[in-house]
Amino acid sequence: MNISTIQTQPFEGQKPGTSGLRKKVTVFQQPHYLANFVASLFAVIKPAEGFAGKTLVIGGDGRFYNDTAIQLVIKMALAQGFSKILIGQNGILSTPAVSNIIREYQAFGGVILSASHNAGGPDGDFGIKFNIANGGPAPEKITDAIYAHSQTISSYDIVDCSDADLSTLGVTTVGNAVIEIIDSVADYVVLMQKLFDFNAIRALFQSGFTMRFDAMHAVTGPYAHKIFEDILGAPKGTVVNGTPLTDFGGHHPDPNLVHAHELYALMMSDAAPDFGAASDGDGDRNLVIGRGMPVAPSDALAVLTANAHHAPAYAAGLFGVARSMPTSCAVDRVAQALGIECFETPTGWKFFGNLLDANRITLCGEESAGASSNHVREKDGLWAILLWLNILAKTRVSVKALLESHWATYGQNYYTRHDFEEIETDKANAVMTHIKTQLPNLAGQTFGGLTVQSADDFSYHDPIDGSVSHHQGLRVLFTDEANENARIVYRLSGTGTVGATIRMYIERYEGDARKHGQDTQNALAALIQLAYRLANIETLTGRGAADVVT
Ligand code: G1P
Ligand code: ZN
Repeated sequence: MNISTIQTQPFEGQKPGTSGLRKKVTVFQQPHYLANFVASLFAVIKPAEGFAGKTLVIGGDGRFYNDTAIQLVIKMALAQGFSKILIGQNGILSTPAVSNIIREYQAFGGVILSASHNAGGPDGDFGIKFNIANGGPAPEKITDAIYAHSQTISSYDIVDCSDADLSTLGVTTVGNAVIEIIDSVADYVVLMQKLFDFNAIRALFQSGFTMRFDAMHAVTGPYAHKIFEDILGAPKGTVVNGTPLTDFGGHHPDPNLVHAHELYALMMSDAAPDFGAASDGDGDRNLVIGRGMPVAPSDALAVLTANAHHAPAYAAGLFGVARSMPTSCAVDRVAQALGIECFETPTGWKFFGNLLDANRITLCGEESAGASSNHVREKDGLWAILLWLNILAKTRVSVKALLESHWATYGQNYYTRHDFEEIETDKANAVMTHIKTQLPNLAGQTFGGLTVQSADDFSYHDPIDGSVSHHQGLRVLFTDEANENARIVYRLSGTGTVGATIRMYIERYEGDARKHGQDTQNALAALIQLAYRLANIETLTGRGAADVVT
């Protein structure tokens, strides 16, 4: 193998965000841009003994630039001396599948090429992130070190060899290393069969239960065809948009009510099947809609926690649960009833890893359509959908009935997120500073019927490794006359690629069953107004309304 050393210079702003480095494709296409990041990654993770004997997993969501990026990562990994490189066929692996393969094959780690739910294609977004040996996203100390290295880089090494054939399953030898192209779906399917009662779900479909799964032309198509149609016996046509496309058919592969509007419209119509679901670009997010009943992700986490025992993998109970701080507190009440611990972590899946590894939690989730368990170290869209199906197969109730009985038991957390996108960075910072300066004076103040209990800038103390992460979101906690809680949380997104995105999370608990099931925006109207007012958003940004409301 002939290794070349290429001279390069640092790029500004190669700082990994909430989940890796995410930028416009055109940014990644600059000569050396991706190579600099990959070289910095390898420099940071290289163990004293080197990479000989170690395996690297590579996979992506199939978006534009996937192939080019994968060939580059292969050649740079070979130059670093990795002994084995495992790649999904045609470069396709969902994010949870990568996590599983790292664990299953005891790999050193994995490189995931994806920008998750962001649009793809030549004008869209691209991204890269690294997952460590436990299968989970690299922790902050690694991503910070990668960034630091990328700011001083002057050269990188790469092997001169022809491109790997990603389309043919099997093993090829390059120098002392082997490249193995593996089936993208097989290992993941085996894992799901271990966790869930496939016979019960098959019987559910046999009984006439109907479903639509929208793969959004993203990575989950091949997984979903195999699992739902081939194995579980749902009729062909249950999975729609099941062929991964490099530009996702021109759509955002984001499973929310806006971007999955066709599914939403169907589920709210007379022709609705029993169950609707979708997943995102890289397969880690999920959307679930019952007939006439969308399910908010925060509610989903609570319902799944309360009913997980219906699935074989969780029948013996849960160690504990965790949610990201801005995720609604609905799951906290379930944890309390089950007598298990509930942790509140910063936004981003990497913060769940230590708790999962230490068996402190079994399930975890975020408000942003992500949930998962200790079976991998990523959120997992199809896993969540299969857990719903397993629960419905065992209880034989509708999604609507399940949700309503959940609220009757635990109360309802009305919850919404308002996003202000593509704000100029200095304006977004001005908003955050404006809120921050008020925080020390808010406690005790009353707004409408709500009294501020506390207001702070959230810091997370990791109970396992003792690390502390500061500045993870500004939160204002209220109580009302009935001693019920409400919250407003503000934070800046770490995944946007243009300007800054301000996220406002607004939540109010409603214990009175007669007040359940209202329209969310109406039920929260006063609190939403207050959230805008405290942020002085209109004056400071010129925006009177959010761009995306979920
Ligand atoms: C967003 C979500 C967060 C999720 C991340 C990656 O990050 O809010 O929950 O983990 O995408 O999917 P944000 O843009 O808010 O930093
Ligand atoms: Zn994703």
